[in-house]
Amino acid sequence: RTVLIAVGTAAFAGTRGLFAQQPVIVKFSHVVANDTPKGKGSLRFQELAQKYTNGKVKVEVYPNSTLYKDKEEMDALASGAVQLLAPSTAKFRPIGVPEFEAMDLPFIFNGDEGYNKTIAGPIGTSLLKMLEPKGIVGLAYWDNGFHMVSANRPLLMPADFQGLKVRISGSKIADLYFRRLGALPQILAFSEVYQALQTGVVDGCENTPSNYWTQKFYEVQKHITVSSHAHLQYAVIANAKFWNGLPADLRGQLAKAMNEATDYTNSIARQENVDALARIKENGKATLHYLTPQQRQAWVDAMKPVYKEAESRVGSKQIVDDLLRSAG
Ligand code: LMR
Repeated sequence: RTVLIAVGTAAFAGTRGLFAQQPVIVKFSHVVANDTPKGKGSLRFQELAQKYTNGKVKVEVYPNSTLYKDKEEMDALASGAVQLLAPSTAKFRPIGVPEFEAMDLPFIFNGDEGYNKTIAGPIGTSLLKMLEPKGIVGLAYWDNGFHMVSANRPLLMPADFQGLKVRISGSKIADLYFRRLGALPQILAFSEVYQALQTGVVDGCENTPSNYWTQKFYEVQKHITVSSHAHLQYAVIANAKFWNGLPADLRGQLAKAMNEATDYTNSIARQENVDALARIKENGKATLHYLTPQQRQAWVDAMKPVYKEAESRVGSKQIVDDLLRSAG
């Protein structure tokens, strides 16, 4: 018995401080509303983590930037102030993994199927692996569908973007493709977008229907184009010291909870966005526009040089090449 206790003590000596207290608290911070694919996914994870660990782990979800805004949440993960995040792939440059931005390339995925195939394949896996040297564990990808774009004037042809100040979330790729259209992209935290649109700090923005609906962007944008020009996806990430230091049984239970929460989130993302778009339409404050095949082709042609520019900007020609080959 003494021997067993000694072995047990040794095994947990390194993490004893972290996990001595029960329940183990896991802070999960994100910037969107609860009523979105990511919001619902994080709440499902909270519920499943409680169930599978028998209450030994308590997940606290902080939605809507209530705890941290975009840039701050990355710092908080690094310092261990939070344990879990789910930032979009547009937000990994500040931690030194700009390769994620390849996923933001315009018109790269052939619909939902093209996206799903890519993320489940070697590109998805290799991107998550790049987080390891940064002290981060990549756990999963969560889907949030395709971007729309909006302003107080209709955006149908590239020329309509001339001189338009557009909010982007951080990706150099979005910066490049909006510049190709003649717009002036500007990075702003997600929590600041509504006010920036309302006060004219920026003229327009891009996002998915679920984010437009829950953040009420349709109140301050007269025209929304359902352009599907780029895809919004999240990498769910954990502080590595925390995750790898968890007792193996708890880590296994949390991994199971994460796998199921991921399947759930990815299964609802499409319909959530269909429903949000229907609500925006029904609300009637903003006019929805859909691109004709000719208009879409004009966007594709205008943005095409971004594929070449991306090779140096995302730090990996290989990823861009692989993506162009596999995403169709
Ligand atoms: C944005 O900043 O526009 C998005 O990344 C927000 C989100 O997490 O969906």
